[in-house]
Amino acid sequence: MKVSVIGTGNMGRGFAARLVKAGHSVGLVGRDGAKAAEVAKAVGAVAVSARDAAKAEVIVLAVPYGNAVDALTALGDIKGRVVIDLTNPLTADYMGLTIGHTTSAAEEIARAVPGVTLVKGFNTVFADVLASDRQVEGGRDVPAFLASDSAEAKAVAGELAKSIGFAVVDAGGLKNARYLEALAGFNIYLGYGAGLGTSVTPIWLPLAG
Ligand SMILES: NC(=O)c1ccc[n+]([C@@H]2O[C@H](COP(=O)([O-])OP(=O)(O)OC[C@H]3O[C@@H](n4cnc5c(N)ncnc54)[C@H](OP(=O)(O)O)[C@@H]3O)[C@@H](O)[C@H]2O)c1
Repeated sequence: MKVSVIGTGNMGRGFAARLVKAGHSVGLVGRDGAKAAEVAKAVGAVAVSARDAAKAEVIVLAVPYGNAVDALTALGDIKGRVVIDLTNPLTADYMGLTIGHTTSAAEEIARAVPGVTLVKGFNTVFADVLASDRQVEGGRDVPAFLASDSAEAKAVAGELAKSIGFAVVDAGGLKNARYLEALAGFNIYLGYGAGLGTSVTPIWLPLAG
């Protein structure tokens, strides 16, 4: 699949690396061209212009929530593209969310960039987990919770998620991004605030027997 990744930080780099490893054609976009070229080279992707990034089938949005709308609109016409939104609307100390309950980062981005089909996903996956390739104890793949109002877009994102080693959990409509972003907030609290570290991931398991 042809995929563009916007953002050359922890998540953008990790995502691009996993995609390349799985055989996808990956274009990386950053606001600093030299950094994008350096990161792309390191992971085996290609640094591309915003205009070229817009041509991909799937666009992975790996920038801070506050920059998400600017980063997407900079690509130009992306109507009809599947955008996987990794963002969490975090407070400056990472210990809270700036919006929630009645909306979410995903819903706000979808409203601000009409025509794109947003899938909320991977926002509960720590960058260290994305980078590690490791499974959950007991041999299960790390879950990717995917929420979208488009079944088609969710299927495309799900295919991509499985191809890079994630277990897909259908998280319902985009409105459920309100829960996924809160879940990510709790994950960050457990990882940093409660000291569990960042090699943990949320997972729902059935009872034994
Ligand atoms: N880190 C995690 O464990 C984790 C887990 C789940 C979800 N997330 C979410 O994923 C997103 C990225 O997190 P991160 O940890 O990768 O952050 P990061 O390391 O700070 O990287 C953010 C990247 O976004 C780029 N950027 C900012 N504005 C841009 C714009 N307008 N156009 C293009 N690129 C732009 C930055 O460019 P510069 O290099 O020029 O600053 C940087 O490369 C955030 O929304 C975060 O909440 C993070």
